[in-house]
Amino acid sequence: LASRDGVLDLALEAAPTRVRIGAREANVHAFNGSLPGPTLRVRGGDTVRVAMTNSLDTPTNIHVHGLHVSPEDNGDNPFVTVESGESFDYEYVLPQDHPPGTYWYHPHNHGHVADQVAAGLYGAIVVEDPDPVPVARERVLIVSDIALDDSGNLAEVTAPQRMLGREGETVLVNGQLRPGASAAPGERELWRVVNACPSRYLRLSLDGQGVRLLRRDVGRLPEPVDVTELILAPGNRVELLVDTREGTSTLRTISVERGNMDGMMGGARSGDGPDNDEPIDLLVLEVAGDPAEEVRSVPAGPTLRDLRDEPVEARRTIDFAMGGMRGGMRGPGQMMSFTIDGREFDAERTDQRVRVDTVEEWTLTNSSPMDHPMHLHVWPMQVVVDGGREISGPRWQDVVNIPAFGEVTVRVAFDDFGGRTVYHCHILDHEDLGMMGTLEAR
Ligand code: C2O
Ligand code: CU
Ligand code: CU
Repeated sequence: LASRDGVLDLALEAAPTRVRIGAREANVHAFNGSLPGPTLRVRGGDTVRVAMTNSLDTPTNIHVHGLHVSPEDNGDNPFVTVESGESFDYEYVLPQDHPPGTYWYHPHNHGHVADQVAAGLYGAIVVEDPDPVPVARERVLIVSDIALDDSGNLAEVTAPQRMLGREGETVLVNGQLRPGASAAPGERELWRVVNACPSRYLRLSLDGQGVRLLRRDVGRLPEPVDVTELILAPGNRVELLVDTREGTSTLRTISVERGNMDGMMGGARSGDGPDNDEPIDLLVLEVAGDPAEEVRSVPAGPTLRDLRDEPVEARRTIDFAMGGMRGGMRGPGQMMSFTIDGREFDAERTDQRVRVDTVEEWTLTNSSPMDHPMHLHVWPMQVVVDGGREISGPRWQDVVNIPAFGEVTVRVAFDDFGGRTVYHCHILDHEDLGMMGTLEAR
């Protein structure tokens, strides 16, 4: 779905949907009856109008992940609730100079986010590059995971799974089990990969092909870099240039160890644990036929301004932690608390107040034994220190992994507009359990 004359008008219905996954029928939740929902293609300066209808039996809403659009009124407002059976009209206006790239949309109603995304509610957004890299074709690849029971219904999620962050055992690309793709040798493709899994980290590899990283989340790299393996936390995207070579290649992921419950919950581990490092095949690419013409070089792309050259107006430290059990007594349904700066999410409270048109430096700390991928809405973050080391070159992301007991320093330019929004852990179960804070820019 592409914008025309600067406007993209669409209707999105979130509804229970029956789909085929591999050899079986499954009852999922999807936008407009398809898994994933439609891909939206827009340009800087466009207006996007979404008439959303909620045909689920739980409240929902839509968030345009990573887009730099105003959180005020009926734009990307995470505090909007669209009740079951109701509709809501969204309007987003992209600044003229919006960074091109791969973004996505998903529900964001606190308490229901992990369940709804895991059920199949997600779709891609492409902000077209005014100076695109010439490619033979591009592919949007949304990776998701789902857990189904024997009758093809969404499986029940246990309390320990919520605390660790659920990982569905069936991993899909564009709603399909191990889809195939084909190309001729000597072609160049652009792959836009989205990690739409609620909690699963991806460690991606594609054997036998020339793979270069062009963009991570928001910022384009000054030059594409050769990669053999890439880690994507939940919510992260990458754009890859694939120069095809004859043969059969498989896009795979292997499990990523992302911490544990430190002796709690019987020592349960995330990421399937260290004894489960069997690769999961995601997509099979067949490269055969007459070689294509030689591909051209990659024109240098615009990068975002470097905030390391700019004065910092304010510094803050924000801490992600897992606390004691909520509600006292231990029992099968007991939940640990997931907090930011010692507090669980409260939509009424404002946790951070920032001034529009200032640059801030944030040190994100993690005093827990699990990794937490931190996501800030509206404004991208430039990573400046990670793992104690200064980052050289631009690294712009909207989801930044804070390793267990580690810290990351980022800079943020609060440009363009004010408003109230959120930051949170993008392990969506953690977000639903309270690991989210509010921010007001004015
Ligand atoms: Cu992808 Cu606040 O979310
Ligand atoms: Cu987001
Ligand atoms: Cu988390």
